[in-house]
Amino acid sequence: MTDAAPLEVVGLSKSFGSVKALRDVDLTVRRGEVHGLVGQNGSGKSTLVKVLAGYHAPDRGSVIKVEGKDLGAQPKLRHMREAGIAIVHQDFGLVLNKSVAENIAVGSFVPARWSRRVNWRREEQVAADLLSRLESHIDPRAMIEDLSPADRSIVAIARALRNQRPGSGVIVLDESTRALPKDALEDFYRTLRGVVAAGGSALMISHNLEEIMQVTDRVTVLRDGAKSGPTMTTRDSSEAEIALLMLGKIVTQDVHTRVNESPRAPIQVRGLSGRLLTGADLTVRPGEVLGVSGVAGSGWDELPYLLTGARRASSGTVEIDGRVIDLSTAGPARCIAAGLALLPEHRIDHGLAMTLTVAENITLPRVRRRGSPWHIGRRWQRRETDAVLDGLDVRPRRADIPVGQLSGGNQQKVMLGKWLEGQPELLVLHEPTQAVDVGAREDILKAIAAIAGRGVAVVVASIQPADLAAVCNRVLIFHSGRVTHELFAPAPDDIVDAVYGGHLELQEG
Ligand SMILES: Nc1ncnc2c1ncn2[C@@H]1O[C@H](COP(=O)(O)OP(=O)(O)OP(=O)(O)O)[C@@H](O)[C@H]1O
Ligand SMILES: [Mg+2]
Repeated sequence: MTDAAPLEVVGLSKSFGSVKALRDVDLTVRRGEVHGLVGQNGSGKSTLVKVLAGYHAPDRGSVIKVEGKDLGAQPKLRHMREAGIAIVHQDFGLVLNKSVAENIAVGSFVPARWSRRVNWRREEQVAADLLSRLESHIDPRAMIEDLSPADRSIVAIARALRNQRPGSGVIVLDESTRALPKDALEDFYRTLRGVVAAGGSALMISHNLEEIMQVTDRVTVLRDGAKSGPTMTTRDSSEAEIALLMLGKIVTQDVHTRVNESPRAPIQVRGLSGRLLTGADLTVRPGEVLGVSGVAGSGWDELPYLLTGARRASSGTVEIDGRVIDLSTAGPARCIAAGLALLPEHRIDHGLAMTLTVAENITLPRVRRRGSPWHIGRRWQRRETDAVLDGLDVRPRRADIPVGQLSGGNQQKVMLGKWLEGQPELLVLHEPTQAVDVGAREDILKAIAAIAGRGVAVVVASIQPADLAAVCNRVLIFHSGRVTHELFAPAPDDIVDAVYGGHLELQEG
């Protein structure tokens, strides 16, 4: 065993044309440590990961060493993988219409062997073993598209482990934990500790500073592509210190933005059923922000899609202004026409057109209302886009580039921005602050309050108690497909108690 570090980058730079995404970054991941990498949206974290993945070639003069060995000027995906660097990307990179075992197997074959000669029974066994190491019972034959976000992230992590020799290598996690509910997170941290206790290492990117404090041994902060201060020992640091290094300003983690609801008639949802929901009844008032949460499998995260026609309900109606829409027959077009708007969880699947520009994405929802696309006034488009770019501090502040070139958090801001300037009857948001840094989180929560302040009824579906507590007038908690708790202006702990309370009682009893 050598005492060289599992991963060392020296003077790493990466430019995209005139954009310097990384500038002269030094970073060492030690054996047996979880190393945190944090920074504002667009600060270069994913770019660093993509260089480590062999996806982007770094600029000249950058050095990447694995176990002391210099990988040369342009390491390729295969070189990085053979060296033991395994990446879990921000959006997992799973193939939705393939099975768990197939997804876990991808990457361990050369393409020519990706054929009938693969022994699928063996692959299923390999997948089952990896999943059980993560204490998960996901069926290796299940399709990814049928899995919850939490299960998908576990599959992605199992796939990374597949390429790992136990006791070596570095698992790189790019916001891989953000979709995990609290209980799954605890299991995941335990697994990660097992991996590093056995001599493996991890490089973990997260916008959740509480998680960074809890899980990492050391932490490196990026700001505008460069290191902001030296790498720190986590326990000698604090959330406030890290946030200051990231943003250059103090942020209040404790945002409070509730607004008063309007006296107009409430929107009534009756008997809403889907795969997990069983006859949910609820009302939302114009101007109210209603939170929705629960454990995995309780149906809370199905509600945004059933309620907006994005997924067909098996039964249920929504009544707006005396008009009743049957959600078991109405498709998305009808729901949009009735003023039901959705901010989905997955940007890539439903939320954004990656090859269209920022301006086109922001103005898309209202183009339909204004008539055919060729009637869009350039000036109108410009004004709408500028308002969103300024309001949410999208970086770079460019309307004309494809959304796909923005960092993950900035894409999230654009997706939210699509609805900021509009006036839907009901806006349903699923995990609205995912992927954004602590500064942008505050901006987004304030923006949600502002939308409600204009008289829009808002539903926020989230597993983040702090987000719900900050912005919701009322929070509904689901268990087994039904609403079991209604909390008025709750504190984060009240929400945690209501979501997990049932389970704790069972364990204690
Ligand atoms: N393919 C690309 N072409 C041009 N610019 C790019 C490309 N990929 C990234 N960038 C730019 O590089 C910068 C760093 O982006 P990166 O995705 O690394 O940020 P990040 O720290 O991961 O942010 P987030 O927290 O939002 O995910 C951003 O300004 C981004 O717009
Ligand atoms: Mg990123």
